[in-house]
Amino acid sequence: PIHPVILSGGVGSRLWPLSREAYPKQFLDVAAGGRTLVQQTLERLVDLPGLAAPMVVCNQAHRFLVAEQLRDSPLGTARILLEPVGRNTAPAVAVAALQALQTSDDAILAVFPADHLVAQPAHLREAVTQAIEAAHAGGLVTFGVVPHRPETGYGYIEAGETVGGGPARAVRQFVEKPDAETARAYLDSGRFYWNSGMFVMRASAYLQALRTHAPAILEACEAAVAGAEQDMDFVRLDAAAFERCPAESIDYAVMEPTDAAVTLALDAGWSDLGSWATLMEAAERDAAGNALMGDVLARDSHNNYVRAESRLVATVGLEDHVVVETADSVLVAPRGQVHAVKGIVEQLRADG
Ligand code: GDD
Ligand code: MG
Repeated sequence: PIHPVILSGGVGSRLWPLSREAYPKQFLDVAAGGRTLVQQTLERLVDLPGLAAPMVVCNQAHRFLVAEQLRDSPLGTARILLEPVGRNTAPAVAVAALQALQTSDDAILAVFPADHLVAQPAHLREAVTQAIEAAHAGGLVTFGVVPHRPETGYGYIEAGETVGGGPARAVRQFVEKPDAETARAYLDSGRFYWNSGMFVMRASAYLQALRTHAPAILEACEAAVAGAEQDMDFVRLDAAAFERCPAESIDYAVMEPTDAAVTLALDAGWSDLGSWATLMEAAERDAAGNALMGDVLARDSHNNYVRAESRLVATVGLEDHVVVETADSVLVAPRGQVHAVKGIVEQLRADG
């Protein structure tokens, strides 16, 4: 069986003030399409054959948000794995792999971050179907997206020879979050893809890779699952064991060092809703190039992202800005500087 695994433990601080620690972006209808990001993540898988009930890995503080939002999930009742603290994605996938192996030795994981937009879900399902075949053959399957800017917030994949006679290709190099100069060189070379952050692999193959490349993570996660408490659909990981787990992403811990990675091209209108800039890129624009959400009046204004959650927002003569209004905070920033929003959140946290 194929086990969908939804990674839902991030706090989404670059989408402040919409995304909050107590209510991060994956639980919001960020793209204003009527469903939250975590709901869309599951719903776009619906027609895939052979799926087991999904697993969601999240912080225990968000357990009721997840349970509530996935209550009528078309994929069946989700098992919700609760982390006492965030330890990044390598451990989150590890506990899901260990959990899946309790049901079957040849369980396959299909791992999806909860903060992506996919404009053509049918294309994603096709790629996942191909990936399942490549995973049966032992590969750690990544999905490569053709890059269109020198983004430093993504992983880059250099594809090599085809493997298994299928569409999958070996990964010659996986480089997580390169510096700006390297990202520019990768983009210009035409040989690199963006890592989409979704993975398909045998649970056993992933754990084997951890044993080789990050044994401390494997050991802590084994103990956290062995000591877990089952509480209805919630699986509470053993806190002491999970807390001593090193915090590392799957990209650094496994995908960079492994020889088992393969990649499939993904052309499905994918975007990571990581920042206001990417959200604006994915949004619909009016004739003046503005993406306006909620009660907004824009006069002589061009190329702005303006979002009003609770009041009327009016702009006059505004160009290339992001304005996000919520009941208790307002963000105003030039489009080119929205990456610095994360720093605001850090400052707010430090100031208490
Ligand atoms: N359960 C859990 N626990 N989930 C987590 C944790 C954690 O501690 N930390 C992050 N996540 C979730 C996030 O909610 C998100 O859905 C997903 O894991 C990926 O984490 P990000 O923090 O958003 O990663 P990233 O965007 O910087 O980088 C990854 O995605 C890029 C594409 O979007 C990498 O895989 C890059 O290589 C990739 O290009
Ligand atoms: Mg992300």
